This record gives sequence, C-alpha cells and structure tokens, in this order.
Amino acid sequence: MSAAPGRDEFVIRPYAAGADRAGVRRVCHQTGYMGEPIDWQWRDAESFADIFSSYYTDGEPGSAFVVERSGRVWGYLLGCTDSERAWKPGAIAGRHLLRRGLAFRPGTAAVIWRTMGDTIVDVTRRRVSVRDLEFSDPRWPAHLHINLLAEARGQGLGRQLVQRWLEALHVQGDIGCHLQTLAENSSALAFFESVGFERLGPPVLTPGLRTRSGGRLHLQVMTHHAHQR
Ligand SMILES: CC(C)(COP(=O)(O)OP(=O)(O)OC[C@H]1O[C@@H](n2cnc3c(N)ncnc32)[C@H](O)[C@@H]1OP(=O)(O)O)[C@@H](O)C(=O)NCCC(=O)NCCS
Repeated sequence: MSAAPGRDEFVIRPYAAGADRAGVRRVCHQTGYMGEPIDWQWRDAESFADIFSSYYTDGEPGSAFVVERSGRVWGYLLGCTDSERAWKPGAIAGRHLLRRGLAFRPGTAAVIWRTMGDTIVDVTRRRVSVRDLEFSDPRWPAHLHINLLAEARGQGLGRQLVQRWLEALHVQGDIGCHLQTLAENSSALAFFESVGFERLGPPVLTPGLRTRSGGRLHLQVMTHHAHQR
C-alpha cells in the first residue's frame, strides 16, 4: 500500500468548485504574463481571471485539475472538450468594459485601447484575419490552459496534468486537443513539444499585450500529434 502524500507535498486532483475557485483565479493572474504576474500591464485581477478562467471553473468544472499543497492551489490545468461551447474571452472582456470601466481604470486602460487599435490596424493592413484570432478546427475541438506557480515548476507536475487531461479526452471518445500559447514563451513551447504537441501554422500577432520592452507578442497554435492531420 502506498503512503498518503504528506502535507507539504504537491498533489494533483480534480478541481473542487467551492474550495478551489479563488485559488485558481489567483494563480491565473499571478502567472498571466508567460508565468510571471501580469499586474504591470493588467492590474485588475477580477476581470483578468474572469476572461481567462471563468468558463473553465464555472462552465465546465469537470474538465479542470488543480495542484494542491497545504490546502492551497499552486497550479491548474483548465480544459474544454468542445471549444465552440466555451465563453468567448472577447465577450467577457466586453462586459467588463462596461461593468468595471476597464477602458478608464488605471492599470487596464492602456491595454484596452491598445487592443482596439492593434485589431483595427492589423486587420486593415491584412497582417491578421479575424479567423486567425479564433482558432477552430474540428480535428482538435478540445483545448487546455495550464499554469503553475514558480515553486511548483520543473518537478513533472505539468507533464502529469497534461497526461490526466489527455486520458480524460481519450475516455470521452478520443477527442483531439489544441492549445494556444505565446510564441515568445520558449519554455512553454519546449514543454508542450515534450508532452506531444506540435506547432500548427506560423505564429500570429496578438493584439493589446506587449513585452516589457514594448514589443508585439504572437500566438502559436499547437495540436496534439496523436491526432491525425
Ligand atoms: C509550462 C509549465 C506548465 C510546465 O510544467 P512543469 O511542471 O514545469 O514541467 P515538467 O516538469 O512536467 O516538465 C516536463 C518536460 O517539459 C520540458 N520543460 C519543462 N519546462 C521547461 C523549460 N523551462 N525549458 C525547457 N523545457 C522545459 C522538459 O522537457 C521536461 O522534461 P524532463 O522532465 O525530461 O526534463 C510550467 O512550467 C508553467 O506553468 N510555466 C509558467 C506558465 C506557462 O508558461 N504556462 C503555459 C502558458 S500557455
């Protein structure tokens, strides 16, 4: 019989709606810029967590897993089996624009106006098409987001989380999975490649967010290669 994990060990378990929601939202904001806190360019944690985690915690909690230690959430994998059903981040941001005054609030105003400006300029100059901004392909209907706080990284937890999710998709009918990550996040690209994802197509400009030196960022679609192309 194997020993139960100690209080100071990381444990992977299914998401528990009541206990884990606040912890997932905290980790989401604290890892929002390629694993680092994103408060320097999106200070409003409430709207950020809603845009990037609320569908998974509130709309599809059965597809989420957390990393827990000492009763706290240290990381998560948030899954979606059918991306057409997921709440659109743009629509959630739109509601917050009105409710929380994001376009006029210090800490978010700049990114909101930049997002609008970038989208108009990039689409007008044909650097991106509206289709590029919303990946949709019936071969890979599922998707995932994964984030661990720094203390939980590099110990195999990410690999275990992805394996749990891929097993769940296999059981539900071998559903193909994609993800989108920032092309500038080279550690994430290496991680996803090591757990069986491949890049699909070139990186695409993403509006609004910037690097610390003000450079543009790009989104890279990746698909799990167990699935036919
Ligand atoms: C990316 C992330 C989920 C990976 O999880 P992890 O638990 O740190 O990764 P693992 O320890 O399971 O590593 C599995 C494999 O991925 C690769 N890998 C992981 N981190 C890497 C890094 N920083 N650089 C290069 N390769 C890396 C290695 O090949 C590793 O294989 P190994 O065990 O044989 O060394 C985690 O580091 C993280 O949350 N980072 C910050 C947030 C982020 O970038 N999220 C993804 C954005 S979409």
